[in-house]
Amino acid sequence: MIILGIESSCDETAAAVVVDGKKILSNLIYSQIEVHCKYGGVVPELASRRHVESIIPVIQESLHAASMTLDEIEGIAVTQGPGLVGSLLVGLSVAKSLAYVKDIPIIGVRHLEGHIAAIFLEEDNLRFPFVSLVVSGGHTSLYLVHGMDNYRLLGQTRDDAAGEAFDKVAKLLNLGYPGGTVIDRLAKEGNNEAIHFPRALITRNSLDFSFSGIKTAVLNYVKARPPELISAQLNDIAASFQEAVVDVLVIKTLEAALRNNVDKVVLAGGVACNTRLRTRLVRMAEDKGLQVFIPSPILCTDNAAMIAVVGDYYLTRGVRSSLELNAVSRWPQ
Ligand code: KG4
Ligand code: ZN
Repeated sequence: MIILGIESSCDETAAAVVVDGKKILSNLIYSQIEVHCKYGGVVPELASRRHVESIIPVIQESLHAASMTLDEIEGIAVTQGPGLVGSLLVGLSVAKSLAYVKDIPIIGVRHLEGHIAAIFLEEDNLRFPFVSLVVSGGHTSLYLVHGMDNYRLLGQTRDDAAGEAFDKVAKLLNLGYPGGTVIDRLAKEGNNEAIHFPRALITRNSLDFSFSGIKTAVLNYVKARPPELISAQLNDIAASFQEAVVDVLVIKTLEAALRNNVDKVVLAGGVACNTRLRTRLVRMAEDKGLQVFIPSPILCTDNAAMIAVVGDYYLTRGVRSSLELNAVSRWPQ
């Protein structure tokens, strides 16, 4: 099927055309970073307003880049949630209007399923089951995935998401928003053993995460020292903080795979762009005989191609949403 994917759950307005859940004809992402960076985080009302302005141009451009017209689109997949309601409603309203006017089947997609499914755009040989670590600004969750619509939550964060921790630490270091990429870059020139930040493993048995403690530890470290010293130590702080987060993510993910007797691990979500996380997970998984699959960075952060993959799966099986489809801000696990 030729699917138009639409994603507007946070601060990216995205549209993509994907054929048979495999072949990307176009994948456009309009980022609102310059709107939100001066506030150190996403301002929901500004995000909705920017989505309203950009969604039609992004869809038009996406169709153009795919050399398609709306008449050739066979299905519409749109993010239904979770996310910022005002942002989600923009994508949903446009998707529903197009579906109604052109009589195209539509499906509302769970954002998290999109992140996990992104890997199928690049990997032909990946078979279920696998363990997936979804790490983004809103999620830090481990799933045992038996199929596209068949997955079980194994563990999740009890407080901040890993991406949120990166963003908050970047903010307290005055590094701007979003923080993940800046910390990743600074850490490359730093010593990751310079400062010991705590690794919250909760209990050995649990596959849950907690990142609020490390954020507070960085805050306390910064507050206790003069600003000139902190400026001089930025690389070491970034590297040491990142190492502590990556340590916990890698340990729990490998543990989840071993405990469930699966030999494949899929990394997903915006934090999966992190270079240290990618290399450490691959290296440590190899030692344990596990195979690791990670999408290209452009498919890890929010995009509409991943939403189209999930949409294709459901629509080809005859599952579709009604035109009463509404946004879901929090999706039960
Ligand atoms: O998946 P995503 O684009 O949006 C959500 O669904 O949340 O993830 C965004 C998150 C942000 O918190 C951002 O700081 C983080 O992913 N991120 C990174 C990196 N690139 C993006 N975190 C660490 N290292 C990176 N290279
Ligand atoms: Zn996301």
